[in-house]
Amino acid sequence: MDYNVAGPEKGRRLLFQQLKQLGADSILGLMAKYRADSSSLKVDLGVGVYRDSNGNTPVLACVRRAEQAVLAAQTTKSYVAAAGREEFNNAVEEMVLGAAHPARRDGRARTVQTPGGCGALRVGAELIRAAAPAVTVHVGDPTWGNHTPLLGGSGLRLERYPYYDAAAHRLRFDAMLEQLDRAPEGDVVLIHACCHNPTGADLEPVQWQALAQLLARRRLVPFLDLAYQGFAVDLDADAAGVRLVASQVPEALIAISFSKNLGLYRERAGALTVIGENVSRANASLSHVLQIARSIYSMPPDHGAAIAAHIFANPALKGEWLDELGAMRTRIADMRALLTQELGKVTGDGSFDFIRAQRGMFSLLGVSAETVERLREKHHIYMLSDSRMNLAGIMPHNVAYVAESIAAEHLG
Ligand code: LMR
Repeated sequence: MDYNVAGPEKGRRLLFQQLKQLGADSILGLMAKYRADSSSLKVDLGVGVYRDSNGNTPVLACVRRAEQAVLAAQTTKSYVAAAGREEFNNAVEEMVLGAAHPARRDGRARTVQTPGGCGALRVGAELIRAAAPAVTVHVGDPTWGNHTPLLGGSGLRLERYPYYDAAAHRLRFDAMLEQLDRAPEGDVVLIHACCHNPTGADLEPVQWQALAQLLARRRLVPFLDLAYQGFAVDLDADAAGVRLVASQVPEALIAISFSKNLGLYRERAGALTVIGENVSRANASLSHVLQIARSIYSMPPDHGAAIAAHIFANPALKGEWLDELGAMRTRIADMRALLTQELGKVTGDGSFDFIRAQRGMFSLLGVSAETVERLREKHHIYMLSDSRMNLAGIMPHNVAYVAESIAAEHLG
């Protein structure tokens, strides 16, 4: 069929003719490459999803149970609200900030359900833009790849602050503080709450203290990304940095995800908490959040949040969840230790010992993009080109193979 425009309109370009083919997203593109690889040796250390020791990403037993209860009790699929479920929002806020947090006590926190943590990040960015379109959002170098489109896509300016030296395998904390100290008042700073993605390198408690003080003194607004609560130590310990920072500053945003800790990935269960200087500013911020949500997706999906809320409200199910969360955390930590040990054996030195001290799902191996490519092409081991590995992709049966392959390609 000939779609060329004829007659007086001749020469007019069609709308989509303007669009050039884009490359695949780095993480999603790697998922597709892994799927297409037919080798029995293949190892997926790419996308950040939990895997058990059989390589599966199971539905948690507590989720299955809650899901059945939710479906049995459900009488309608009618709309809930732009803010989602109230009981979910209340439980999430308490889980993240703790019951007695000053922002909650003073009625300055507002929480809305969002389509995953990504939805929270984007709605938060749109809120910042509505409040102050000229502010810059400072994001770490490195940070999760999708932070750039999620935050920058709202039209906000992004700038990088030093976070981690991949070659030396350590935080660049002094350089980070130095740069943030020069940021203009009112700018926003994106901070990973725990289990840093991609490095696995978190701030120590004294560093959180110093950062909180700097944010307060320089009147910078923290935007905390909490996507892995419970994957490092436990729910409370992993929220300690968020709680501290949020207690020292008048305003903050927190993006929360239940993709990983409840394994609800595709259900898109997340939340955005906004803390205002006082009750009326918190209310005004909430009114903007709701209007932004309405203008993007109208209302968040319900199913995942209904399951989560059911678990949070039911002590037996919550206990079961904490056990399952603990088992995921332990498995990843065990694989982290085992990989470090195997790498020590094959290299004969401690050059990869830094992996052991990192937390959560990820580690940045610190090898070149060429090495990463050879690992994929020759050994069928898939990790992101910056050498981020998902430790949950390691299993007792493949750990020695992964360690030998890394040593072979890295050391030559
Ligand atoms: C990851 O970092 O791999 C995950 O958070 C999945 C994603 O959406 O990128």
